[in-house]
Amino acid sequence: MAATAVADETLEAVGGNTITDAAEFGAVQEFTATLIIRRFDPDVDDEPRWQDFDVQVYSTDRVLDALHKIKWEIDGSLTFRRSCAHGICGSDAMRINGRNRLACKTLMKDLDLTKPIYVEAIKGLPLEKDLVVDMDPFFAAYREVNPFLVAHSEPEKGKERRQSIAAREIFDDTTKCILCAACTSSCPVFWTDGQYFGPAAIVGAHRFIFDDRDDEAQVRLDILNEKEGVWRCRTTFNCTEACPRGIQITQAIAEVKQAIMRGRP
Ligand code: SF4
Ligand code: F3S
Ligand code: FES
Repeated sequence: MAATAVADETLEAVGGNTITDAAEFGAVQEFTATLIIRRFDPDVDDEPRWQDFDVQVYSTDRVLDALHKIKWEIDGSLTFRRSCAHGICGSDAMRINGRNRLACKTLMKDLDLTKPIYVEAIKGLPLEKDLVVDMDPFFAAYREVNPFLVAHSEPEKGKERRQSIAAREIFDDTTKCILCAACTSSCPVFWTDGQYFGPAAIVGAHRFIFDDRDDEAQVRLDILNEKEGVWRCRTTFNCTEACPRGIQITQAIAEVKQAIMRGRP
């Protein structure tokens, strides 16, 4: 049987409906997009500079695909981080049209392609090259809050630490963090105040403070009660708006503040 005949049979089988024209699936459109990227090469540049690139993109492309196209076909020196390309590793947070987003989760067709798309590195962390920042201060703040389970007793029967569904739900939201830094680098307090731990570190702490298998919630609450901690937050909500995982960060920060005030999780 010819390949096209097999394809036709497959189409007819979809949902029991007859689909005679592949266009009924929705044609993939092609556009020319202009990306204006903030470039910085520490070996030659004193200051960052903007550079524009015209690229052909499809409606199914993400900003990450456009960056790949530039790097692979136009300018191999363009530097950015990415790994999974599917919103899991957290390595490609960047400012796209002034908003922190993951390049791999931002569809080109969802941006206004009649205008240039501005792409730059996230703010508040030292710029290393093009879209790459030094993440060390971000991870240093995260490590400060002991983002790991600390249990002083042995698990029951030496096996597992059991937890009810209701107890797990209390911190479910903050388990979703992928440490992309989109939140912390969108926070105006973090930009202007080098002392603030930032929302991502508080999210990491929240995940264990409210875990009833953990025995050191109070240690973390004491750390976040220090001058670098939760009281620096001005409830600006930028972090919540920026989070690609939809974590209710400002609410998590409020829950940590309340736990500090009542002296327990
Ligand atoms: Fe990224 Fe959200 Fe985690 Fe912040 S809380 S680091 S925005 S996943
Ligand atoms: Fe910053 Fe988020 Fe608070 S943006 S000020 S950490 S609500
Ligand atoms: Fe992994 Fe985007 S490349 S989250």
